[in-house]
Amino acid sequence: MTSTRTLRIAMNGVTGRMGYRQHLVRSILPIREQGGVELPDGTRVQVEPVLVGRNEAKLAELAARHDIAEWTTDLDGIIHADDTDIVFDAAMTNLRAATLTKAMKAGKHVYTEKPTAETLAEAIELAQLRVETGVTAGVVHDKLYLPGLVKLRRLVDEGFFGRILSLRGEFGYWVFEGEHQPAQRPSWNYRKEDGGGMTTDMFCHWNYVLEGILGAVKTVNAQTVTHIPTRWDEQGKPYDATADDAAYGIFEIETPGGDPVVAQINSSWAVRVHRDELVEFQVDGTHGSAVAGLFSCVAQQRAHTPKPVWNPDLPTAEKFREQWADVPANAEVENGFKAQWEEFLRDVVAGREHRFDLLSAARGVQLAELGLRSSAEGRRLAVPEISL
Ligand SMILES: NC(=O)c1ccc[n+]([C@@H]2O[C@H](COP(=O)([O-])OP(=O)(O)OC[C@H]3O[C@@H](n4cnc5c(N)ncnc54)[C@H](O)[C@@H]3O)[C@@H](O)[C@H]2O)c1
Repeated sequence: MTSTRTLRIAMNGVTGRMGYRQHLVRSILPIREQGGVELPDGTRVQVEPVLVGRNEAKLAELAARHDIAEWTTDLDGIIHADDTDIVFDAAMTNLRAATLTKAMKAGKHVYTEKPTAETLAEAIELAQLRVETGVTAGVVHDKLYLPGLVKLRRLVDEGFFGRILSLRGEFGYWVFEGEHQPAQRPSWNYRKEDGGGMTTDMFCHWNYVLEGILGAVKTVNAQTVTHIPTRWDEQGKPYDATADDAAYGIFEIETPGGDPVVAQINSSWAVRVHRDELVEFQVDGTHGSAVAGLFSCVAQQRAHTPKPVWNPDLPTAEKFREQWADVPANAEVENGFKAQWEEFLRDVVAGREHRFDLLSAARGVQLAELGLRSSAEGRRLAVPEISL
């Protein structure tokens, strides 16, 4: 008989898009369904979610739909309850730092959506509090668990690229204004005063993607824009879109071997997709190149590189897209949110730090803050190292 212990997870913000879909339905419920997570000694750790939010009716409906025994509107109470092991937060960004602070002070492990805070000072305070309290803290770094990026990282590890020169990323899609067709993202995303904005939202992802694939980000030069100044909210009312809805960034990276790499990432909610996936990263190196999306990754070696010749007088006959070879996964890659949750749960039981913690998250908040400042001041900014 294998013994099983159960971790009670207070899940705040589960009525939201991310909290519900990725964390509850795609991660915690499948983990519960499979009987928890197996530990190195052969025992298992099971999970039991407690739904936390403001709207009783919504919580009760979700609990009934998914056979969840407990839900509450008392965030403070559940944070301080003796039998709460982990506090998870996917509520609105501007409420996060307060929730995480309370949870860590109560001695609870925390797992959270990004960004961890609205300002770098707050994000650093959170990282310091984790060190003081000794709890395990994890921050969603979902993009690094995507099959496409797992393959891309493998190519880096295998030395496929030779010396890496550059990365170019394209992220985004058209988010409807909400006037004639409802917007497919929440309206707070477009209001600065509510914690919205492309730079705040995405630069924290780009920081760990760049760190996780290439190396540390040394400088940032960004231009942030509000392309669409008026949008319509969930009630169909027009509002001023006060936050940036696109950010065009250039980053200087230093690889662990000391090579400089130029990374350029366009992020926009005002772009129409002419790509295979909603995010794509191309890495070029002296020996090969690769293009990775969420799922797929294709590569082209030096030996297979065609020799295009510029000639505006003739239509292009080469099928450039067909000159790339698919990089196989060679293993089943699970939903990234679930895979990271499982890793985090093992870290909690082992009493160790999670590799994607509040310090890594603080670097993400730092990059967002510097991106916005770079744009406002119209100059390239150095990214200073954070020490706690
Ligand atoms: N990892 C990713 O790829 C990813 C993608 C999108 C969003 N996010 C992050 O996830 C978080 C949630 O984003 P979302 O898109 O799910 O937003 P959402 O608006 O769909 O959900 C927000 C949640 O917060 C709750 N909430 C709103 N106001 C509140 C208040 N005053 N008090 C308590 N709760 C309140 C809502 O009820 C809802 O449960 C954000 O921090 C966002 O940055 C991460």
